Amino acid sequence: MSHSNTPSPKRFKSSGALTGRIAVPGDKSISHRSLMLGALAVGETRVSGLLEGEDVLSTAAAMRAMGATIHRGDDGVWSIHGVGVGSLLQPEQALDMGNSGTSTRLLMGLVASHPIRAVFTGDPSLSKRPMGRVITPLSQMGASFEASPGGTLPLMLRGISPAVPITYRLPVASAQVKSAVLLAGLNTAGITRVIEPVPTRDHSERMLRGFGAKLDVGEESGERIIEIHGEADLQPQTITVPGDPSSAAFFTIAALLAPGSDLVIENVGLNPTRAALFDVLRDMGGSIEELDRREVGGEPVADLRVKHSALTGIEVDPAVVPAMVDEFPILFVAASLAQGTTTTRGLEELRVKESDRLAAMAAALTLAGAKVEEYGDGLVIEGTGGDPLPGTADGVAITTHLDHRIAMSMAVAGLASDNGVKVDDTAPIATSFPTFETLLSVATSG
Ligand code: S3P
Repeated sequence: MSHSNTPSPKRFKSSGALTGRIAVPGDKSISHRSLMLGALAVGETRVSGLLEGEDVLSTAAAMRAMGATIHRGDDGVWSIHGVGVGSLLQPEQALDMGNSGTSTRLLMGLVASHPIRAVFTGDPSLSKRPMGRVITPLSQMGASFEASPGGTLPLMLRGISPAVPITYRLPVASAQVKSAVLLAGLNTAGITRVIEPVPTRDHSERMLRGFGAKLDVGEESGERIIEIHGEADLQPQTITVPGDPSSAAFFTIAALLAPGSDLVIENVGLNPTRAALFDVLRDMGGSIEELDRREVGGEPVADLRVKHSALTGIEVDPAVVPAMVDEFPILFVAASLAQGTTTTRGLEELRVKESDRLAAMAAALTLAGAKVEEYGDGLVIEGTGGDPLPGTADGVAITTHLDHRIAMSMAVAGLASDNGVKVDDTAPIATSFPTFETLLSVATSG
């Protein structure tokens, strides 16, 4: 599913303190995986708190096209009747992945070890993103591909059964690639092994185990070794999806930056492979308190109380990048308002996300009046010391390049500016956070 082609521009301006309590929608990564694994378990899986963003709806549509029955109840709980591992059906039409890299790469893994053929298509942003990183291991397992030049969409994937179990050492720190191989391993006899030199988000491992797959995680010479035992039988589950820390990030930084703010963000997922942003912000002087730490759906969760704080620039350790890979665009906004210099390196992966996020954020923040230097693998930002950014000039809009996180980051920059920031298109926000603007009004309504 793709959002409307008509751009929806908007100027975001300072609207005072953020106060009260809000709850962000369900985690995108966990939502995708609950639909995929539910679609492979025979019987009914029930999912509450599913993110109803366009990316996740693309996954739901694809799983339906391959045989699962998926519907949303009036109570907001999603019900999935799966087909069983090995029994995905040949989709009759191309699978339209919209803007969603996660749907594409994980589903390529699933299809690769089934004896079916699928065509994957996407919007202009997704059609530029590299798929070679999953084509390589899945080809080793026996699947074959006809991709567009540069290993991009549209592409046709011919799966194979039986597929060949492999040991694959990740050449890039990518949970999507890891998950594609593990999901292909589900329907592959024997042990499929992924070696992860740098740990990435582990939602697939947690959820595969939760559905009853035999999955072992070990460590050798500082590397994570993940083994899935194939021809798994998945058991249907009841899942509660925690709130998405990547969505909470926008409100956390908006509250840190807006004087007088004191905001509680409820039910935020704090899986250590995801939550490094909150530690980095604390190191910068941010007041972020965890309340009522608990477990939801096999994931650590807390309510976050965030108060306006004076931030100081820091050098961000490149080792934390995988644990906050999606949060750099909004961190750059915090850095633009901090006292002193913030240095970020090791971010080459940001160039192949929904947009080239280093170039897009450097251009957008510069237009809004921030001091930014762009390097091949990061940005160095000289903050204002708490003074608002000037904002974009009348008639000048920053470009989001079909990237939801650029749109939301620059919306927050607008809240922390004198004249506001005009965002050329807010439509992409619906891919991951359809209630973003509504929650912003709630939090700033006093
Ligand atoms: C995701 C993994 C990350 C992240 C994406 C979601 C996932 O991508 O950027 O938004 O759900 O596995 P990479 O694994 O390519 O870094």
